[in-house]
Amino acid sequence: MKLLEIVACVGVTTAFPTFFSLWKEPDLRGLQLGKINFLHTTDTHGWLGSHLTQEDFDADWGDFLSFVEIFQENHINGKNRDLLLVDTGDKRDGNGISDATSPVGLNSSQIFNEIDYDILTLGNHELYTPEGTCLEYYNTAISENFKDKYVSSNVEFIDDDNNAVPFGNKYIYIETKNTKTRILVLSFLFDFQRSNERAVVTPALEELDKKWIKRLSESYKMDRIDMVVVAGHIPPSDPDNELRQVHDKLRSYFPDVVIQYFGGHSHIRDFVRFDEKATCLQSGKFSETLGFLSVDDPNSNNVTFSRRYIDFNKRSFRYHSNAKSLRTKKGARLSKKIHKLRNELSLNDVIGYIPQSYYLSARPLDSPENIYNLLTNVILPNLVGNVTDDAVMGRLIMINTGSVRYDLHEGKFTRDTTYNVIPFPNEWKYLTLPYKVAKLIERVLNDGPIIYKFSSPEMLSYSSIRAANKGFKCPFIDDPDLSEGFTTIDDDGCEGDDTPHRSQKRYHVPNVVQTKINNVSDDSLVNFVFYEFMKGHVVNATNEIMTRFYGSNFKKITISDTKNYGGKSTKTLFNEWAHNNLNDSI
Ligand SMILES: *[C@@H]1O[C@H](CO)[C@@H](O)[C@H](O)[C@H]1NC(C)=O
Ligand SMILES: *[C@@H]1O[C@H](CO)[C@@H](O)[C@H](O)[C@H]1NC(C)=O
Ligand SMILES: *[C@@H]1O[C@H](CO)[C@@H](O)[C@H](O)[C@H]1NC(C)=O
Ligand SMILES: *[C@@H]1O[C@H](CO)[C@@H](O)[C@H](O)[C@H]1NC(C)=O
Ligand SMILES: *[C@@H]1O[C@H](CO)[C@@H](O)[C@H](O)[C@H]1NC(C)=O
Ligand SMILES: [Zn+2]
Ligand SMILES: [Zn+2]
Repeated sequence: MKLLEIVACVGVTTAFPTFFSLWKEPDLRGLQLGKINFLHTTDTHGWLGSHLTQEDFDADWGDFLSFVEIFQENHINGKNRDLLLVDTGDKRDGNGISDATSPVGLNSSQIFNEIDYDILTLGNHELYTPEGTCLEYYNTAISENFKDKYVSSNVEFIDDDNNAVPFGNKYIYIETKNTKTRILVLSFLFDFQRSNERAVVTPALEELDKKWIKRLSESYKMDRIDMVVVAGHIPPSDPDNELRQVHDKLRSYFPDVVIQYFGGHSHIRDFVRFDEKATCLQSGKFSETLGFLSVDDPNSNNVTFSRRYIDFNKRSFRYHSNAKSLRTKKGARLSKKIHKLRNELSLNDVIGYIPQSYYLSARPLDSPENIYNLLTNVILPNLVGNVTDDAVMGRLIMINTGSVRYDLHEGKFTRDTTYNVIPFPNEWKYLTLPYKVAKLIERVLNDGPIIYKFSSPEMLSYSSIRAANKGFKCPFIDDPDLSEGFTTIDDDGCEGDDTPHRSQKRYHVPNVVQTKINNVSDDSLVNFVFYEFMKGHVVNATNEIMTRFYGSNFKKITISDTKNYGGKSTKTLFNEWAHNNLNDSI
């Protein structure tokens, strides 16, 4: 057996200084290894170069590679155990490493694919553009390394001859190296309706009624497999309970075998128990979390599942792998490659400064540390449109909360920061409306259910809702010596996170937020300015409000009544604000 080549911590120069920790060293919670062990990533969205302003997530993809190699060496090789690596998709849109290239993901997928995953699949973010989908299919799904490891049971690729072919494999069969455990692997993407023309998504529940699944279950009866793994880009629990329904169907095909699910998409840490022999792990987002799950033993009548959410940092990686030095030769080489790519894409270029941290949902909307408060009070009022309508007494500017993707951390504002926080460009539209109508649009859009297209990426953990329904609660941790971070609640309780943190409160984030307006009378006209892509909802809300005021006695407005406002995008205004802070801070 070849020993790992460990190199000392030299070589990679970073543009950022090493952190001095403000916090005491926490006592980490260890992993309960089992016969079959999984490491799970999901929704990495291009975050392969670590989090340069958050020391709790200071590991990059090269450190992860080192971790995997050392873990394998110290805990798996030569033992009666196996390790499988799983990713469940959404590998771009959110970080400059993936998004500053054309097509998006061109170079980041080469880096991502240096981890020797055993099971790979795709998320909805691999399906937004034809270029992105072709890149994923040709460079990963059918690549030499992954052609036997890429699974998608309900997504098909449309090839150059216009034929629908499986996106990788409909299923795969694995026999593990050490314990010879026989595993059948399936994978389902959630019911995603907006795929581009190079892919077709069949709803999982429909796919499960097809003949091939029945035939598969007949040829892989209990005596031929030890467990089923489902790697899904689908949350373990959501308002529609999609995965629970998938499980009910799968159970009818595989009545008495362990089924281990891995989920994604809603960007949270979560763990759900479906029945005695079936659980689902979801491992967060943005390379903040490495999920661990062990099954011991899949063939026993009393099978034990153990989950752990590992903070994606070097301290945790060192601890769980039992490493003396975390760097392996291959890992160090990969870190170097990432660093080089960041430089070539100019992602380290400092273009501004952030004087304090601003949060999406860890502070209430009216807090000076809330990012939407910053946008509506400080940044958006700088918008200057083409419209200089003097008759207009005022203006409201509305944005959807989902257009902001990440907390904004105090420190240098690099070219990468915009990709992280406000990645999308936008066009502005406006309507001239009586103030009494305009001011109610916000309420109409926020009082209804979550508009997924609009809503913040930080959706609620349905596990905590489930727990609350059962009258179960985790303590709020208020230890000032600990850093603020994940204190997850899930079906197994309050101790799933490997690192004890100070709890972060989560405040409700509405669908939309808007700027304030002073001293405008109800009947005066105002310009109501909003993102072009919200126009359908804004028009419908306006008609609903007009109906309340005027009955059916008015001419309904349509999308063609919305006019171009001009002006810079939120992304540009945000960059200018950060840039001005830099000048102020000199
Ligand atoms: C990105 O990938 C392309 C295609 O493989 C390659 O030609 C190019 O050199 C890569 N760029 C960087 C900065 O590594
Ligand atoms: C099942 O296993 C757990 C953990 O190993 C043990 O505590 C429990 O007593 C076992 N239950 C039965 C019914 O064997
Ligand atoms: C508000 O508007 C009224 C009437 O136009 C005006 O008299 C008053 O000065 C305004 N107040 C402020 C604070 O602008
Ligand atoms: C707006 O209302 C129309 C008519 O009821 C409906 O067809 C359309 O889907 C609605 N648009 C949005 C974005 O909700
Ligand atoms: C705004 O005005 C500029 C300059 O006149 C023009 O180029 C641009 O097309 C206008 N934008 C819109 C959205 O009308
Ligand atoms: Zn995602
Ligand atoms: Zn997704």
